[in-house]
Amino acid sequence: MPRTIAVLGGTGPEGYGLALRWARAGESVVIGSRDARRAQDAAARIKAAVSNAKVSGDENVNACAAADLLVLTIPFEGHAALLKQIKPAIRPGSIVIDTTVPLAASVGGRATRTLGVWQGSAAQQTAELVPKGVSVAAAFHNASAELLNADAPIDCDVIVCRAGAVTVSELCAAGVAGVLVPLVVSTTSHQRDNAQWLAGQGAGIHLPQSELSPRRLADLLAGLTREVLLTMATKARSLAKPKAAARVADELERLVAA
Ligand SMILES: NC(=O)c1ccc[n+]([C@@H]2O[C@H](COP(=O)([O-])OP(=O)(O)OC[C@H]3O[C@@H](n4cnc5c(N)ncnc54)[C@H](OP(=O)(O)O)[C@@H]3O)[C@@H](O)[C@H]2O)c1
Repeated sequence: MPRTIAVLGGTGPEGYGLALRWARAGESVVIGSRDARRAQDAAARIKAAVSNAKVSGDENVNACAAADLLVLTIPFEGHAALLKQIKPAIRPGSIVIDTTVPLAASVGGRATRTLGVWQGSAAQQTAELVPKGVSVAAAFHNASAELLNADAPIDCDVIVCRAGAVTVSELCAAGVAGVLVPLVVSTTSHQRDNAQWLAGQGAGIHLPQSELSPRRLADLLAGLTREVLLTMATKARSLAKPKAAARVADELERLVAA
């Protein structure tokens, strides 16, 4: 389904890097800025770097109105004010992805320290400031702008995720260890079955939602040695079925021809 991703603050290194990666992946992106001209300049740089990039630039409110997937990439000091400004332009049912790390540098402190946010986190503050029915997710806090703006694939050791069929197959195709927290409301419990299966193969860890807490997850991740991660990743890769759609199509053609 065609969609547009609005990257608000996409003139800065983090938003620009994400926009660049999404443009490379063929996504349609609109870069937002407090200044439309700066946004257009950033879009032009991406167009120069990525052939056929579907990217444009606009003032934050207009960028927001053009998309229903919004990514906040501005510093914490501007967070609440920007959300109040864009609130009327946020489309019903939109998803907001918040990358904000509330650094103490925002209030003159050290960049190595974070601020306590009354609501619990910057993303929880965002959730209070967006219209009802808009979903907020926190992500990319550890995705460094330096890496995003480089050309190399961005490696990771472990992915914490749900356990839908596509997620599980992508984990295997990528050959990455996964901590799978199946969606509880899934009607047929298929996510639990997927997670149990992958864990049973030694390619991931099944963490039921009922056992999930920040402490439990932190302890679990801290206990994953490099050796364990490599074993799970290798196993996951061995379970992958690359080009599955093409193989199904070949099989169908064979049956039709028979
Ligand atoms: N840099 C990283 O490696 C990294 C990694 C993970 C997460 N993050 C998070 O990503 C966010 C952006 O990081 P960054 O390094 O790209 O930040 P940045 O360069 O300081 O700011 C990004 C953009 O935000 C806009 N902006 C600046 N101050 C603003 C304000 N008061 N109100 C509204 N907009 C403002 C500016 O765009 P315009 O002037 O064009 O409006 C700027 O180009 C931060 O919340 C950070 O915690 C960064």
